[in-house]
Amino acid sequence: MPFPLPRNAWRLLLPLVLAGAAQAAPAQRYEIEIFHWWVSGGERASIDVLRAHVERQGIPFREGAQAGSGTARYGDALRRRVAAGRAPTAAQSIGYDIHEWARLGLLENLDEMAAAGEWDKVVPNGIQHLSKYRGHWVAAPINAHSTNWMWLNKAQFDRIGGRQPDGWDDLIELLKKARAAGIVPLAIGREAWEHTLLFEAVAVGVGGAEFYRRAFLQLEPEALKPELLLRIFRRMSQLRGYLGPGFARRSWDQATDMVRRGEALLQVQGTWVNGEFSHRGLQPEREYLCFRFPDTQGIFLFNSDQYVFFKDSRSDAPARQALAAILLDPVFQRDLNLATGAAPGRVDVPRDAFNRCGRQNIDDLRGGNMRRTVMGSVAMGNANPSRTKTAIYKVVSDHLSGRIDDAQAVRQLQRGIADSVR
Ligand code: GAL
Repeated sequence: MPFPLPRNAWRLLLPLVLAGAAQAAPAQRYEIEIFHWWVSGGERASIDVLRAHVERQGIPFREGAQAGSGTARYGDALRRRVAAGRAPTAAQSIGYDIHEWARLGLLENLDEMAAAGEWDKVVPNGIQHLSKYRGHWVAAPINAHSTNWMWLNKAQFDRIGGRQPDGWDDLIELLKKARAAGIVPLAIGREAWEHTLLFEAVAVGVGGAEFYRRAFLQLEPEALKPELLLRIFRRMSQLRGYLGPGFARRSWDQATDMVRRGEALLQVQGTWVNGEFSHRGLQPEREYLCFRFPDTQGIFLFNSDQYVFFKDSRSDAPARQALAAILLDPVFQRDLNLATGAAPGRVDVPRDAFNRCGRQNIDDLRGGNMRRTVMGSVAMGNANPSRTKTAIYKVVSDHLSGRIDDAQAVRQLQRGIADSVR
């Protein structure tokens, strides 16, 4: 099965897909309605930037939201809307989910907009691979988040006499110091995507870029060498000892708050934490620090937020075109990503306005784009299709939660990935 929709969702969607043109054409309106999952403080500030840019052009702007990136909750809510004939103009989408929407034939072709804006020339290759389906643009990328980062509370880091960890042993040393000082060393939340985000940083640190590409992007079974996987899961087991109690009840942004308040030393998370901290008025080097995850310097695991456009929305063509043009506009991408904490989704946006973490992220993206070390995040569905992603989620989350041991995790990961591509 190419597209693992819940069974009832297929029942709802198929008649709609098949009816196609036979559907009564919705009344067209010069208005934009988007659907997204940005509900945390920093994320809401990012939506406000989009609203301002749209309204500045005199286009009425409406939005609907459903929290839960990296979970089925968001996708299910969007599928229900589309099936009920209430498709928004455009919806936030990431990674291979974009291709799954395209495969259903529900998305607008954006080739003309892309040609006019020369998207081919400015969007990093790894992102274009997800924005295009069968060679045609079907999504507009608005940023390039990166996941293999650590975010630290600077006051606590100084108090415990921390040093920037270069390799694995330095990281463990730092986590030990935090524990000895009575704070949670490593804050994390409950969702499987968060666990997998930690896993992918550890995995690329152990195996390197070539291993990551072959194992998780190209899904080559022989790349999943048991000894190597065992080293990765051993490191994950080591980290389990530093998570502190209660992570099973926490969301990613509650974990971010623990770092902000100094209850935890650090969080391994995407650059959206930069957005959360900026939204609170915090600054790099003053209240917080950002370090690449040890052993992954030079590697940019990305998660690009994109918007897909629905053929069946009520917005008319001028409104849709205006939105697509805004989303790829360099000034919009600068303003937006000052709020999101990400790098812009095009490589030609000047970096001067960004904070120190933002500038490093932009530099890493440009450098990595040349070295082919910009690779999709497994956790955020930018590396492989959702069947494979969810197979990895299950093993990683079961292992981090202590339900299976290192050796079981190795076997289950090999089997889970192999089964997912059969
Ligand atoms: C990601 C998204 C980010 C941020 C994060 C946490 O999927 O790309 O922009 O929203 O989820 O919600």
